[in-house]
Amino acid sequence: MSITNATDSAPVTVTDLDLFADDVLADSYPTYSRLRELAPVVRLPASDLWVITRYDDVRDALGDPATFSSSGVAFNETMNEVLKGTSLATDPPDHQKLRTVLTENLSPRAVRKMKDGIYAKADALVAGIAGRESVDGVAELARIFPISIVMDLIGVQGEVRDKLLRWGEAAFNLQGPMNARAEQAFPIAKELFEWTHDAVKAEDLTEGSIGRGVFAAAERGEIPYESCGMIIHQYIAAGMDTTITAIGNAIVLFGRHQEQFQLLREDPALTASAFNEVQRYLSPIPVMGRRVMHDVEVAGTVIPAGAQAALLIAGANRDPRHYDNPETFDIRRDATDHISFGYGTHACAGQGLAKLEAHGILTALATHLESFNVGGTQSRINNITRPYEYIEMRDIRAADPTSA
Ligand code: HEM
Repeated sequence: MSITNATDSAPVTVTDLDLFADDVLADSYPTYSRLRELAPVVRLPASDLWVITRYDDVRDALGDPATFSSSGVAFNETMNEVLKGTSLATDPPDHQKLRTVLTENLSPRAVRKMKDGIYAKADALVAGIAGRESVDGVAELARIFPISIVMDLIGVQGEVRDKLLRWGEAAFNLQGPMNARAEQAFPIAKELFEWTHDAVKAEDLTEGSIGRGVFAAAERGEIPYESCGMIIHQYIAAGMDTTITAIGNAIVLFGRHQEQFQLLREDPALTASAFNEVQRYLSPIPVMGRRVMHDVEVAGTVIPAGAQAALLIAGANRDPRHYDNPETFDIRRDATDHISFGYGTHACAGQGLAKLEAHGILTALATHLESFNVGGTQSRINNITRPYEYIEMRDIRAADPTSA
């Protein structure tokens, strides 16, 4: 499909559902699939959104920032104002400079240096649950692990460590429409903003941490001092709920698809492909916002200039026009081109780190456990992310160390 400038108007498919209603957020995939099969573009007048539903169109839109601007990355105007000047909400050409500063510490080279430490941490956590009858996979793995990685990355110490989770959660609630969840998140996100932009000083952060290094770069004049707060803010906001969600998803999927877990155990070379498939099957960020800069035709429908677009990443990742049997979780498929990390200019700056964390956990699960089941689960409703609050891991059989 191609996105071209509109020349004349075309019919528009309209529906009255609310993408951010509690019941839709609690169980989104049936709605995403309904929208995708309804039309490539669906207008939701109640929330004033234009939803792009299919793989090719979502990816093209992500790859076309001149038409689909990140000035509308959030689904409410207050937040889009707050985000002005961040890499996330800035379009090219200004975006590149902000992103360069942000990604310096997350480059493949920088991330490679963290590998041993991250794998050792994952290994110790999973070794600690092997053989136990039942554990909460969120408290003992999915949450504690990414939080400790982000804390070490930034070098956070003291009471701030306890606030990170709430801050990360609030940052994503605020990207949704201005509903009760977003309103309640404002004072919490304000704390995060004030801490990163006003309160935190280099000496508050652990010696040798990346957070401390960011301040050192400013002191050497390599980056503007004002960028320090923005960088630390984005690491916390973008790097917590996303990874917590992804690791929780991996635990639930492998606990419920025993045969897939055995495939992973038998062939560790499948680890990267397994995480791609986890990300394709369950997208931690199911939808991203964009502002439409000029009238544009997408698959036959004209979206007008100024419209708020919703790019349905999760629906696209299960588009049968792109993936065979998309509702099947299969770690042997090639899902490298899933778009859960976005695509194009704004593609996730922290994906190297996120992959390292997930690969570390998958490797440790496959090494230490012969099998495990997942019983009850509980999710936390957030406007954007989909984190588990609780995952009952049970019948956790330790692997026979002599069979390795
Ligand atoms: C599984 C975990 C993760 C997922 C699914 C994820 C997903 C995404 C997505 C979809 C975007 C694109 C946003 C857009 O197009 O507007 C993005 C951007 C970003 N992510 Fe991630 N992310 C994850 C982990 C992380 C981590 C661990 C960090 C850093 C510590 C991080 C930092 C960022 C930053 C800074 C951006 C903005 C990049 C830019 O504007 O150029 N992410 N992420």
